[in-house]
Amino acid sequence: MKSIGIIVGSLREGSLTKKITKNLISPPNTEYKFIDISNLPLYNEDTESNTPETWTKFRNEVKDCEGIIFATPEYNRSIPGALKNALDVGSRPYGESVWEGKPAVIMSTSAGAVAGFGANHHLRQCCVTLNIPVMAQPEAYLGNISELMNDEGKIIKEDTQKFLDTFIEASHNWFKKFNS
Ligand code: FNR
Repeated sequence: MKSIGIIVGSLREGSLTKKITKNLISPPNTEYKFIDISNLPLYNEDTESNTPETWTKFRNEVKDCEGIIFATPEYNRSIPGALKNALDVGSRPYGESVWEGKPAVIMSTSAGAVAGFGANHHLRQCCVTLNIPVMAQPEAYLGNISELMNDEGKIIKEDTQKFLDTFIEASHNWFKKFNS
């Protein structure tokens, strides 16, 4: 069985975004895999002549997934640089992009009320050129993220958990369309 890849835009040890994605991990018969983007050298085409192992590993991990859940905070009204770098690494060498046709869903998070709208839509913009089919609905904007979970990372708001259940079910249906 192929797994669903989770790519988190924050590299922080205590990332609330990473914490909240753990509430998505269901049903039990689906395999999820966090795909690390923290150790990818910044993309430089010159480096392709001696491809870093971390780039190859990352590309293979994305290729092996049935679909990708992008969960990202917003940095300065866009996506964090580490996530943009991961998109760039996966997109090359030219003609060998691992993103081509790979279905994805997007969840943005924020400590504030605007809920990462800028990051969510900048990421969607990248996905257009990468030919990543992104689920349109339901959109997922999780604002005031620290108020949604307890210290163990469990959702404490019933309506948030309900929304996440709907979101993950829709995500599974979305991935299925591309993996029949
Ligand atoms: C932020 N944060 C932030 N929040 C937001 O809503 N819009 C923004 O543009 C930014 N910009 C921004 C830039 C940088 C460099 C940092 C470090 C942070 C705040 C951000 O939402 C908050 O730190 C989140 O908790 C980060 O997510 P993780 O690391 O907890 O997953």
